[in-house]
Amino acid sequence: MECSWKTLLLLVCTSLGVQYTAIRSLHDSFSGPCQDSAHCQGRQGKEQRWKSLCDDSHVPAETSAATARKHILLFAQTRSGSSFTGQLFNQHPGIFYVFEPLYHVQQAFTNSSSRLQRALDGRALLGAYRDLLLNLYNCDFSFLESYIRPEPQDHMTGAFFRRSSSHALCTPPVCQEGGEEILAGQPDETWCPKKCQALNLTLASQACQARSHVAIKTVRIPEVGDLRTLSEDPRLDLRIIHLVRDPRAILASRMTAFAGKFRAWKIWNATGRQPRYVDLTQITRTCRDIEYSVETGLQKPSWLRGRYLLVRYEDLALNPEEKVKEIYRFLGLDLHQKVLTWIAHNTNGTVPSSSEWNFKYSTTRDSKATAQSWRVHLNFDIVKTVQSLCNRTLSLLGYKPVQSVDELRNITKHLMEPRT
Ligand SMILES: *[C@@H]1O[C@H](CO)[C@@H](O)[C@H](O)[C@H]1NC(C)=O
Ligand SMILES: *[C@@H]1O[C@H](CO)[C@@H](O)[C@H](O)[C@H]1NC(C)=O
Ligand SMILES: *[C@@H]1O[C@H](CO)[C@@H](O)[C@H](O)[C@H]1NC(C)=O
Ligand SMILES: *[C@@H]1O[C@H](CO)[C@@H](O)[C@H](O)[C@H]1NC(C)=O
Ligand SMILES: *[C@@H]1O[C@H](CO)[C@@H](O)[C@H](O)[C@H]1NC(C)=O
Ligand SMILES: *[C@@H]1O[C@H](CO)[C@@H](O)[C@H](O)[C@H]1NC(C)=O
Repeated sequence: MECSWKTLLLLVCTSLGVQYTAIRSLHDSFSGPCQDSAHCQGRQGKEQRWKSLCDDSHVPAETSAATARKHILLFAQTRSGSSFTGQLFNQHPGIFYVFEPLYHVQQAFTNSSSRLQRALDGRALLGAYRDLLLNLYNCDFSFLESYIRPEPQDHMTGAFFRRSSSHALCTPPVCQEGGEEILAGQPDETWCPKKCQALNLTLASQACQARSHVAIKTVRIPEVGDLRTLSEDPRLDLRIIHLVRDPRAILASRMTAFAGKFRAWKIWNATGRQPRYVDLTQITRTCRDIEYSVETGLQKPSWLRGRYLLVRYEDLALNPEEKVKEIYRFLGLDLHQKVLTWIAHNTNGTVPSSSEWNFKYSTTRDSKATAQSWRVHLNFDIVKTVQSLCNRTLSLLGYKPVQSVDELRNITKHLMEPRT
């Protein structure tokens, strides 16, 4: 009698196993052209998760071998340092990194639709984002192909968004050029667009399968809650790196990067007087999305357990080596020396703010002060407004509001509370 509950548990586990096998074979028939070893590796990881579930250890995947395929999502907002942070994955030879593939989906939706259609498309867009991520995590590029314009011919395209931000797409087997440049330590962005021919997406898929893990950067998904179905998908072992940044810095960076769209803000910045037609909705939405996402993450719902890491860009900027170690520990992956070398070569101990660090990377080495450069580039009146629009986000993340111009401009005074 004593062990009957064990028998019952065993039965439950077995039946789960059977169900899982059934689901899996269903997935197999739908999962497209990715049926190689790397794909199976992902499956093994999944199997281990189920095993560990039946072993009564409810924390997923941490228990499985470090080699099990991880599906990393760098989840961020525009101008929050995600290009820089993406390099921490892009530089790892075992990780296939893709820079913002959702761009193609958004373009296709935006261009094809009337205003009414677009409103209806909101949910569909999110669904399409998730489908594309799932496909790419399985190294299947066919879904992406249907969104790229002009349409790829024979799986060849010259229009892959920011291809050279993905090291794997600039190196063999995808591209045979650039040997010298890579040896000389030149960033891919400087030579890859010129030397590498049109992208062969079949080769890209093979390159993806040959690497142990996949990392994708996106700024197009509004909230972490939108990732729940992916996080729960038994085919994935999702790890979300949620990158946040001080909203005042995000705004300053957007004003510089998208000057055309921020004309009213520029006038405000120059005069200290808020034009009536200035659009406050974007920064408000940004702050709300960050706030909701962080709240979701900190509540530790079961579907995010062991899958969510909050990273403040400023912490990374002040202490890149320590922070990158923490990130890789969370991922359960070994930190490759190439990543550390890249940090050493590109930061001199600190990271540039994302406005200075771009794909036309120059030789400028940034100081710790540059992470705070917004403090000398924003009019105090704007700062006050953002502080009031985003006060909950600021306090949630430990960014201190300033009360005066002097306090704003005095860089020696830190505006960040330490976070654990
Ligand atoms: C969408 O339209 C813009 C502007 O007309 C154009 O530059 C872009 O290539 C189009 N994208 C797609 C996917 O059709
Ligand atoms: C793309 O790569 C695949 C796999 O190596 C190859 O079979 C195919 O011929 C290539 N396509 C073109 C147009 O070169
Ligand atoms: C790194 O920064 C220090 C202090 O600012 C400077 O003295 C040094 O030359 C820099 N090193 C490199 C390699 O840029
Ligand atoms: C705002 O104005 C100041 C002073 O006029 C200028 O130095 C700064 O670059 C401007 N900031 C932005 C983001 O344009
Ligand atoms: C944010 O501002 C609102 C309205 O001014 C205020 O009620 C609230 O207490 C503030 N929240 C925080 C966290 O400072
Ligand atoms: C700047 O801030 C530091 C640290 O809070 C303070 O000691 C110093 O007096 C301030 N400088 C000025 C000019 O206000």
